[in-house]
Amino acid sequence: MLYYFKKWVIDMLKPNYIEAKKRTKEDIKVLRNEYKIPDEVKNLGENKKYFIKTYGCQMNEHDSEVISAILEDMKFIKTDDYENADLIILNTCAIRENAHNKTFGMLGRIKHLKQAKPNLMVGLAGCMSQEESVVDEIINKYKWMDFVFGTHNIYKLPEILKEHMKTEKLEVNVWSNEGNVIEGLPSKRDSKYKAWVNIMYGCDKFCTYCIVPYTRGKQRSRMPEDIISEVKNLKEQGYMEVTLLGQNVNAYGKDFKDRNYKMENLLEDVAKTGINRVRFVTSHPWDFTDNMIDIIKKYDNICNYIHLPVQSGSSRILKLMGRRYTKESYLELYKKIREKLGDNASITTDIIVGFPGETNKDFEETLKLAEECKYDSAFTFIYSPREGTPAAKMEDNVSKEEKEQRLYKLNEIINKYAKEANDKLVGKVMKVLLENVSEKDENMLAGYTDTMKLVNVKADKKYIGKIVNVKITDAKTWSLDGKIDEWYRRKNRWIIWWFWRV
Ligand code: SAH
Ligand code: SF4
Ligand code: F3S
Repeated sequence: MLYYFKKWVIDMLKPNYIEAKKRTKEDIKVLRNEYKIPDEVKNLGENKKYFIKTYGCQMNEHDSEVISAILEDMKFIKTDDYENADLIILNTCAIRENAHNKTFGMLGRIKHLKQAKPNLMVGLAGCMSQEESVVDEIINKYKWMDFVFGTHNIYKLPEILKEHMKTEKLEVNVWSNEGNVIEGLPSKRDSKYKAWVNIMYGCDKFCTYCIVPYTRGKQRSRMPEDIISEVKNLKEQGYMEVTLLGQNVNAYGKDFKDRNYKMENLLEDVAKTGINRVRFVTSHPWDFTDNMIDIIKKYDNICNYIHLPVQSGSSRILKLMGRRYTKESYLELYKKIREKLGDNASITTDIIVGFPGETNKDFEETLKLAEECKYDSAFTFIYSPREGTPAAKMEDNVSKEEKEQRLYKLNEIINKYAKEANDKLVGKVMKVLLENVSEKDENMLAGYTDTMKLVNVKADKKYIGKIVNVKITDAKTWSLDGKIDEWYRRKNRWIIWWFWRV
């Protein structure tokens, strides 16, 4: 009896795909006072260091910022060296098989460390924690781990650690669905100049290949007031740039029952806060409205950078993927954006090759589309079957070698146009937010244009955190080189001289 009760409790706290797939009509509640640190763990991190490794997308990066802040609220101190840590958290991604492999590879290394340091605490978080098969594997083969929590209950981390302290056993606490928006969470941001701002959680699109609707739950938009006040706060703290985050930001607000407030309204209100730069990712082509394009054009501080994932150039494959648009309607939207925003805008995309049943003819259509769109850059992937998704059950008769060849051919075209787009910028003066010392040369700084081009600039460190005019001197496929525009420098000197005189 006790055995069955225990099993029931464990099953309740384990992820379950049938539950994760459900989309209830229940109203989404905004909970503001859920984050608490029990007394028993408030000093848990005293004299202890934590290490957090993040895989996956920007949403996960931001989740790691929240996890870090929660740990620091319990007095843990951050370390970048996992061998030196007392607590390790892997914030995982489940989007493709190789993300899985990286996590399990890292766990292998950590296991050795744990053998040498039995007091080391090791936890798994993020999208892999939401996968039934992963959690089963952890329970069966990774009993030495300390805790597993998911994407819906990050704010419960202090309580999970408290439970683990009591039992000293692997604590699995993963919720399959969550209908709420949790406000009032702390965040320890990695950058002092650029900030991620969640505008929505989850995804209801259920593209047939994708695991995200299962790992992140149903679409829940944050209240505009909460988003705007977060942006205003960031601006006051000196942040120059915000990126509005969601799996499908153009569907923002569609889940509101009490108001008609959409992505275009939010973009406009965020732009009006006057923060220097506003970005947003990711845009699903299905919900991209003309009004949105007009708002992007109207406000100078909304960046002229659109990530518009196409996934395939074949309407047949797009239908099998459940993407809800055809090649033709995508191209129509693409051209509209290009026409309205002009040549100064940059557009990037995501493409999957080797989707089940993709023929040579389908693939040729993807190549043709890439030729036609001349993207500024693209993330390209080989299809990876994800357990529990409809596409994983589709017959896949394309060989691995063939898929690799297709990826190679596609990348050649993508790279060619990325270089061409960059070449056109040589000689131009572009505004760059300089963020840090360049990885390629310690005498250079690196930053991004509003069109998301990486620029390495020979400049003094005093320019870090500033948006400066940079003259582009050289173009590579994935980055640009530049120097601070002399005219801009002279103008600044002149202004200082003028102020000094009057
Ligand atoms: N919400 C975004 C995509 C998020 S996932 C959108 O709809 O555009 C980021 C990218 O990973 C996707 O655009 C897709 O190209 C890729 N991807 C997702 N699932 C995949 C899978 N099973 N195999 C290979 N690539 C995948
Ligand atoms: Fe995945 Fe599609 Fe949702 Fe993007 S829109 S997260 S690809 S299901
Ligand atoms: Fe990966 Fe989850 Fe993001 S699957 S891409 S970390 S939403």
